[in-house]
Amino acid sequence: MKILISGGAGFIASNVTDAYLQDGHEVAIIDDLVTGFRENVNAQAKFYECDIRDADRVAQICDEFKPEVISHHAAQLDVRKAVSDPVYDASVNISGALNVLLHGARVGAHRIIFASSGGAVYGEPQFLPVTEDHPVAPESPYGLTKFTFEHYMRIWSQLHPITPVALRYANVYGPRQTAHGEAGVVAIFAGLLLDNKPCKIFGDGSMTRDYVFVGDVVEANRAALKRGDNDIINIGTGVETSTREVFDAVRAAVGTGPAEPELLPERPGEVHNICLDNSHAKEVLGWEPQVAFREGVQRTVEWHKQNENHG
Ligand SMILES: NC(=O)c1ccc[n+]([C@@H]2O[C@H](COP(=O)([O-])OP(=O)(O)OC[C@H]3O[C@@H](n4cnc5c(N)ncnc54)[C@H](O)[C@@H]3O)[C@@H](O)[C@H]2O)c1
Repeated sequence: MKILISGGAGFIASNVTDAYLQDGHEVAIIDDLVTGFRENVNAQAKFYECDIRDADRVAQICDEFKPEVISHHAAQLDVRKAVSDPVYDASVNISGALNVLLHGARVGAHRIIFASSGGAVYGEPQFLPVTEDHPVAPESPYGLTKFTFEHYMRIWSQLHPITPVALRYANVYGPRQTAHGEAGVVAIFAGLLLDNKPCKIFGDGSMTRDYVFVGDVVEANRAALKRGDNDIINIGTGVETSTREVFDAVRAAVGTGPAEPELLPERPGEVHNICLDNSHAKEVLGWEPQVAFREGVQRTVEWHKQNENHG
């Protein structure tokens, strides 16, 4: 199949790109490299350096490549930036996303797989693990734009022959996640501990997240090429891991490092505990996570050791 992957120079979508190419698909990538890296772009994929907010260019690319499937991963995903500049956040996560959806559908794409966020759309959970029918109450403009685009896809699918699949990822970690971003605590701790620098934890370390290995997320994207029609599906482990446990796991994988992290005041607006119920993913995608947290951390640290320049 011809698959157009937005954000394919980034962490998650570059891993998805590699898998789709291995499976024999023809892949083109749209990415403006704002947070992605040219080194992540698989040489077998066609690469368009393009900002998805540029409607004319997105239209041209769709006319030229004529994708059958769209994997939409390009996004503004820095929650603090979304709060300080919600107009920019919406311009990428809604207007830019619409350019990809509309022009993809116009040239005949019959499916769109969207990287939504289980960590951001639900807000502070009322119960754990969070199921897809848990009330949605995003606490940041980022969560709101992700949720809004799920609805644009639903509406567009009622007007045009394009089938949406929304994958609500938990906290994804693994090779190619940058240690220099705002999110991605496994990568941040790995980068700091490998450089023998101190780590900071906001709060007392008891905050929990659901960490899902990128290789497992890739498998969900493989499954979503054929299954999950018109659905919204959590992609997580259902397991809560505290920030302190992340620190301990990364330090154990690195083998050395400063004794204790520095504890800083909790940041306002952060969800305290979350994990995602994955029974729906099991049922509709036949997917479940395979990589245990400690093993995933080990693989991530190995990657950071070998790629310290842009890790
Ligand atoms: N990392 C996570 O834990 C996580 C969790 C939930 C959802 N997601 C979603 O998964 C997707 C990928 O995230 P990631 O962690 O790989 O981040 P990433 O920053 O590595 O990837 C995003 C990619 O999008 C590109 N991009 C951003 N704005 C663009 C624009 N205007 N035009 C073209 N390209 C643009 C960036 O250059 C980058 O390559 C995002 O949609 C994100 O919201 C990620």
